[in-house]
Amino acid sequence: MSKIYNNKMMFLVAIFILASVVNVMTEEQKDTIKARNIPGINVPDPYSKGCVSCHKNNPEMRFDGRLSAILHSWNDAVDAKVLAKAQTMVPEGVILQGKHAFRVTPETSIPEACNKCHGKIKSAPRLFQLLHKIHLTGNQDNLFMTKFQGECTYCHKFDTRKGIWSIVSAKEGE
Ligand code: HEC
Ligand code: HEC
Ligand code: HEC
Repeated sequence: MSKIYNNKMMFLVAIFILASVVNVMTEEQKDTIKARNIPGINVPDPYSKGCVSCHKNNPEMRFDGRLSAILHSWNDAVDAKVLAKAQTMVPEGVILQGKHAFRVTPETSIPEACNKCHGKIKSAPRLFQLLHKIHLTGNQDNLFMTKFQGECTYCHKFDTRKGIWSIVSAKEGE
């Protein structure tokens, strides 16, 4: 093939691509762009009880994600990644101990019960700050960002009738 023929072909291909890009956004097509799926807003919410709906025991994955199990293991030592995130939000001079004394029982409503200390004791940061940092920072190394797409509505519930946001609190097993 000659060089000139090649250039002509390239030119035609470029025109074709341009034409189709312009075509994508014609007036009639604009309102056919599909709304993003937002759990609990325009598609069903698989985690309607918030924390405890998602933090479950997954024996098939050999992973116990229940907050009772996670916090229990923290009686001895807090996960290093979580501790590092928490340390950034306590007042200067406070060094976290890396141990968490609280026990979650079947009667504990999560996250309501957490607020008894969080935001009240100097070394226990406000819960929303801590939870946002744990779930929404990091990227590929954060399972909440990869598997759950950093979805706000898995924690924040929206009442579509009244237009009110709330945080649902529930016991494990509910
Ligand atoms: C839709 C699923 C989902 C919901 C809802 C959710 N979490 Fe999580 N949570 C995760 C995932 C995934 C991680 C691990 C993040 C990572 O990879 O660093 C996590 C991590 C945590 C951790 C740190 C544990 C550790 O060892 O990394 C705590 C504590 C926690 N969540 C508490 C809560 C609380 C309290 C709520 C409710 C206000 C909540 N989560 C709601 C999925 C969820
Ligand atoms: C009895 C008081 C109390 C309750 C109730 C409580 N916490 Fe804490 N929490 C603390 C204190 C104190 C710290 C700081 C611990 C340290 O020095 O490492 C802390 C720290 C944390 C941290 C940062 C990691 C660490 O331990 O340093 C996470 C995450 C956390 N709490 C989650 C929770 C969740 C989720 C709940 C509810 C299920 C909860 N906490 C209930 C007192 C409490
Ligand atoms: C793991 C659970 C969780 C996730 C995920 C989450 N939040 Fe929150 N958020 C909370 C909790 C708990 C509170 C405290 C609410 C209260 O006390 O009523 C809160 C409070 C807030 C507040 C008020 C306090 C502040 O920080 O100013 C804002 C704004 C907010 N969230 C925005 C978001 C946005 C935007 C997203 C998604 C990108 C998101 N949250 C994802 C748990 C979560």
